[in-house]
Amino acid sequence: MAKKRVFSGIQPTGNIHIGNYLGAISRWVATQKEYENIFCIVDLHAITVPQDPTELKSKTRELLGLLLAAGIDPDMSTLFVQSHVKEHAELAWILNCFIPMGWMQRMTQFKEKSQKQKEQVSVGLFDYPALMASDILLYDTDLVPVGDDQKQHVELTRDVAQRFNSIYGPTFKIPEPLIPQVGARIMGLDDPTSKMSKSEDKPSHAVHLLDTPDEILNKIRRATTDSQKEVKFDESRPGINNLLVIYELFSHKSRQEIEDHFAGKGYAEVKNELAELVIEGLRPLQERYKELTEDPNEIDRLMEKGAEKVKPVAAAKVSEVKEKVGLARICQG
Ligand code: AMP
Ligand code: TRP
Repeated sequence: MAKKRVFSGIQPTGNIHIGNYLGAISRWVATQKEYENIFCIVDLHAITVPQDPTELKSKTRELLGLLLAAGIDPDMSTLFVQSHVKEHAELAWILNCFIPMGWMQRMTQFKEKSQKQKEQVSVGLFDYPALMASDILLYDTDLVPVGDDQKQHVELTRDVAQRFNSIYGPTFKIPEPLIPQVGARIMGLDDPTSKMSKSEDKPSHAVHLLDTPDEILNKIRRATTDSQKEVKFDESRPGINNLLVIYELFSHKSRQEIEDHFAGKGYAEVKNELAELVIEGLRPLQERYKELTEDPNEIDRLMEKGAEKVKPVAAAKVSEVKEKVGLARICQG
């Protein structure tokens, strides 16, 4: 049986943190043999909010390096940069014309992000889900692994695909979201009631993948917890719960084992042991990242190889769509 195709995207902005790693990247790595994977660094999504050009370029390269260092194997999975394949923007425009305003106005991520920016909000930010739908639908994707914040966008993708198919006949495969049960929402260390986020720059908010051992230890030691003592998985105590979920995901131990291990111990011990676990868990990735980035051309070569691999697939889908919609082709000869 053919392998199912997985597509996922990640923005090259801010600093990649352990929430991205546990909720997304480590799962992509773990499923490389089971699925046919396509991973995209979504730089066109990044420019929906203001970006510094030099920084955006360097973050794009850094992210590619981090994904490879985390274990994405370019011979098994395809890894490319969104803006290198022009069909993403092209299909997004066409899909725009099949998405009612009302669907877009329901998107909660836009509501949250636009509140932060007020009147500076771009049309691109509003239209972000159409570009994401284009990413997914270009490749006949079966599964879209994302954190639960992105579920609504995958649902919109399904809706627009169904709408298009019902007008023009079968064109797009209807994708399913793949939401992890544990770790879909790692919370901020400084505020465990809000999601760990790349755009939050408070110093103790998140552990980043390239943080030094000292930085990791200090951030985890400073993590907000409550004034109770018992070490238990308990969602009504978000601080300690978040630390234990991170522990669970890095240690691959069961909740029972973890609670037994910490029975009679205090939060300080949880924090110290967790810091050690995270430092050791990230060490191989950090070492591989250092090796990879010693030759700057290597990243560029891999970027180009990835784009060349997906271009024919994207081009075939866009020409099918254009034909169906009635966009005239230049006849040759
Ligand atoms: P973003 O940081 O929004 O570009 O997200 C990249 C990927 O990481 C997406 O699949 C997100 O759903 C996932 N992700 C982002 N933040 C978290 C978090 N705090 N916990 C778990 N997954 C996350
Ligand atoms: N919007 C996603 C996020 O912020 C990133 C993304 C863009 C994506 N295109 C995608 C995720 C396609 C999955 C599939 O996390």
